[in-house]
Amino acid sequence: MQFLSSTIGRLAAAILRRDLLRVRDAGCALSDGKLDTRVYLSANSPLHSFGDAFNSMAGRLAVLMASHKELTSAVSHELRHPLMRLRFRHSLVMEAVTPDEREHNLERMSEDLDLLDRLADELLTYAQLERAEPEVRLEKLQVAPWLAAIERQGREMVGARGDDLALEFRVCAIELRAEPRYLARAVGNLLSNAIRFASHKIRVTVESDPSGSRIHVDDDGPGVPTGAREQVFEPFWRGDASRDRKAAGFGIGLALVRRIARWHGGDATVGESALGGARFTISW
Ligand SMILES: Nc1ncnc2c1ncn2[C@@H]1O[C@H](COP(=O)(O)OP(=O)(O)OP(=O)(O)O)[C@@H](O)[C@H]1O
Ligand SMILES: [Mg+2]
Repeated sequence: MQFLSSTIGRLAAAILRRDLLRVRDAGCALSDGKLDTRVYLSANSPLHSFGDAFNSMAGRLAVLMASHKELTSAVSHELRHPLMRLRFRHSLVMEAVTPDEREHNLERMSEDLDLLDRLADELLTYAQLERAEPEVRLEKLQVAPWLAAIERQGREMVGARGDDLALEFRVCAIELRAEPRYLARAVGNLLSNAIRFASHKIRVTVESDPSGSRIHVDDDGPGVPTGAREQVFEPFWRGDASRDRKAAGFGIGLALVRRIARWHGGDATVGESALGGARFTISW
């Protein structure tokens, strides 16, 4: 009997040692940059749940590293064009024969400097919002006064467009649980896109019921093609038609919308609107 129990004890210790070595080796591989490393332990290993936790940490690390790489390469890409133009214009200024020629090229340079300024600003906001994640506190929010401020800004943007775009608000909720500033920013971003893309009509709907809350922004513009409905939420992604730098931004607006929706424990999605264009929805 004693022999049996000591054999079982030795066996358990050997299994534990083997699994600990596996986790240690996986940890070493991970720290060497092999981000696809995972540990596989049998279901009855005493370290099984430890192995699962290790794997989910490794998975999360891989996703974070990939998204940072993507962001860095997107930022370098955004910087390259205005910098190239600045260098080119600078050489034209140096070689300019007439004052008019010099003036013209200096004006173009100033436009590119403004563009770089805006890019720095957007990136700063994006980074700030990324850092702010743990500070997001949902509170009880009275919809009417909160939405009134968004509506005011929306009407100003519609005014700047200078045509007869109809902006309608449908409010089917009195209160929401949300972070007012961030949620207003998210809805503002959706609204500014809709104002850019709509032909004649935009509708903002706020609803809340026991299953959750939703804000829809509908427009009658060209819509978002099925194949691009995930990509639009990636930072720096822009559709071809909106690559005109004067009219469009950097492609950060929707990435922020999704981030804010996820902090609220929900998500942001896009589909087809009954108005004929895009329907963006924040649900949480
Ligand atoms: N309402 C819409 N209808 C059609 N396409 C849209 C709509 N909203 C966004 N998109 C597409 O998604 C892309 C990404 O939008 P996003 O708001 O992230 O960037 P942006 O508006 O180009 O720049 P930014 O918001 O940073 O100023 C847009 O460039 C456009 O191609
Ligand atoms: Mg936008």
